[in-house]
Amino acid sequence: MRKEIGALIDTLEREHALPEEGYLALVKEGGEETARLLAERADAVRRRVFGSAVYVRGLIEISSICKNDCLYCGIRRSNRACERYRLSKEDILSACDEGYALGFRTFVLQGGEDGYYTDEVLGGVVRAIKAAHPDCAVTLSMGERSRESYAALRLAGADRYLLRHETADAAHYAMLHPEEMSFDNRMRCLHDLKALGYQVGCGFMVGSPYQTPVHLARDLKFIERFRPQMCGIGPFIPHAATQFADDPAGTVEMTCRLLSIIRLMHPGVLLPATTALGSIDPFGREKGILAGANVVMPNLSPASVRRKYALYDNKLSDGAESAQCIGELRARMAAIGYEVVTDRGDYRNC
Ligand code: 5AD
Repeated sequence: MRKEIGALIDTLEREHALPEEGYLALVKEGGEETARLLAERADAVRRRVFGSAVYVRGLIEISSICKNDCLYCGIRRSNRACERYRLSKEDILSACDEGYALGFRTFVLQGGEDGYYTDEVLGGVVRAIKAAHPDCAVTLSMGERSRESYAALRLAGADRYLLRHETADAAHYAMLHPEEMSFDNRMRCLHDLKALGYQVGCGFMVGSPYQTPVHLARDLKFIERFRPQMCGIGPFIPHAATQFADDPAGTVEMTCRLLSIIRLMHPGVLLPATTALGSIDPFGREKGILAGANVVMPNLSPASVRRKYALYDNKLSDGAESAQCIGELRARMAAIGYEVVTDRGDYRNC
């Protein structure tokens, strides 16, 4: 490993910031030794802030109906082969009840941009969850909405919102999305969510089509400046029914290296080892945690719909990825020295 790389890692750990070229150098430095040093430092920082805790969130995929047509995504509207479903308020509430009994204290409602979930409907669901489980956090991940809509949902009790920025480079954004979607609106959403007092998560896919190291450096700089409370990054995985079917997937190694960098940049951030990471490697989740991630989001959707939320090919939804198998997840985390914790696990401001 070159000496400058060690110095960059020192600076990142001390100042929680680097110039964009510094991030670029860390992204481009392919060696295993660099990855190991980054992971070692990131793990130490995480242990200082969070101890050995790994937080779990119950993920409920409430709808596979989406009005958007993101070029990489398996549930894009133009994919005729995608089986569509939508959960009712009762379905969602009973998933939360089941999750509560299993120990979950955060529920993440994620779905396509489905017009059925108006502010009234979705706000009603949030209110009902909060009434039934006042000690739980509710996270929404329902895409781009108006500021008024985000405000109404916040008022209904939503605590957190996940909206990946996808890429911090406007030209790259345009290569991954249809013309009617805009980078500026994505950024508007993220800033509105922050201003409304949500704990906000941004994020991106690693190895997405046309992505270059410069894009990744820009993503890191954006995350440094935006200071999200959560950050979801996972490998791009091709979906057979998209134009990127034959593109290569992102790698575990690059995903882990980026997780470590983000942990050093924001010590208190909530950083999931994503389903996508678990889907491309049988030990992907463990590798993510060891690199500095501290959240896992097992699937709490009703079994009948689990396979239908197919964002990419071979997406995991059973084993330790399933909320019902939290025992297996506990054992797997314990085996690498971490403890699954079921409290709300809020962001630490440090
Ligand atoms: N591979 C990996 N992640 C994907 N997503 C969508 N399609 C894919 C894919 N093919 C991610 C996007 C989106 C989130 C819901 O899932 O980043 O924000």
